[in-house]
This record gives sequence, C-alpha cells and structure tokens, in this order.
Amino acid sequence: MDYKITTYSEEETIELAQNIESEKFPNMVICLQGDLGTGKTIFTKGFAKAMEIDEEVTSPTFNIIKEYTSGELPLYHMDVYRLDGKVEDLGIEEYYTRKGVTIIEWADMIPDYLPDKRLDIKIKNSGEDEDKRVIILTPHGKKYEELCEAVL
Ligand SMILES: Nc1ncnc2c1ncn2[C@@H]1O[C@H](COP(=O)(O)OP(=O)(O)OP(=O)(O)O)[C@@H](O)[C@H]1O
Ligand SMILES: [Mg+2]
Repeated sequence: MDYKITTYSEEETIELAQNIESEKFPNMVICLQGDLGTGKTIFTKGFAKAMEIDEEVTSPTFNIIKEYTSGELPLYHMDVYRLDGKVEDLGIEEYYTRKGVTIIEWADMIPDYLPDKRLDIKIKNSGEDEDKRVIILTPHGKKYEELCEAVL
C-alpha cells in the first residue's frame, strides 16, 4: 500500500521527516526519489536534526557518501546522482547492515543495489504551486509497513 502526503512548505516536509525519524530503527534504509530541487536533501536534513546530529548535513553529491556519527545512531547519507557506473566500488550494500540509518538520494538510479526491505519516498513537484510537493511513501517489508501505519 502507498501513502500519499502533500506538503506546502519546506517546513512541512521537515515535519514529515521528523515523524518518520521518531519510528526509526537500526539498519533502516530510506530511498528518496524525485527530480532536482524537490526536497530530498531538505528531508534528510530534517531527519538528521531529529536524530540529534549536530553536524551540518550538506548535499553529498560530490562525495557520494557522508557519515554522521554525532547522533544516537549513525546516519549514512548518500547521493548517487553522479555515480555513473562506479556503484560496485562504493560497497553500498555494506551500509545496510551497519546499524545506522541509510538515506539514499536518487535511489531509483541504482535499482539493483537497493535492499529488498526499505522505505521508498517519492517527492513530486506540483505545477500549481512552487512550494507544493506530493510525497508518496511505499514501504517494502513488515517493519516499514508498520512504520507507515504509525506515522501516517
Ligand atoms: N514543500 C517543500 N518541501 C521541500 N522543499 C521545498 C518545499 N517547497 C519548497 N521547497 C524548496 O525546494 C528546495 C529543495 O531543495 P533540495 O536541495 O532539498 O532538493 P533535492 O531534491 O535534494 O535536489 P537535488 O536533486 O539537487 O539533490 C529547497 O530550496 C526548499 O526550500
Ligand atoms: Mg539533494
């Protein structure tokens, strides 16, 4: 089952991230999809703040993976947009079992390297209003289904 949420500002997308964070668990994987500038990094920043990560979370586009360890659980933030083919070198699958939370921007670009159990979040622009986003959550696996039930 998919869950649909509409946000009308950056703050509302951050609030959604905080609500999802409140149900986080070790080895959680969130796969973000959506065009440039839809709010994937905004979502991640909101999630990180809720995790009490005090380092500044910035877009990892050129680093591909950034690890934040100042919160109660580690956060592995990835942006695979500029990866072009080098995905094997990254050892990305190793992160899925490393206790922290993994958030992947542009996850739809690496469909063969995603875990079976994960939360997909697709953010779409809406033509009418510059700040409106339609956000579709698709849980894969029981834990993620329960998370969506709890949050939404
Ligand atoms: N409802 C909304 N939710 C999230 N961001 C919004 C919303 N409305 C406007 N914005 C703005 O959209 C922009 C989203 O930028 P962000 O860097 O998070 O996008 P992104 O999806 O990570 O892009 P990229 O693909 O380049 O990494 C921000 O400037 C933010 O203020
Ligand atoms: Mg981004």
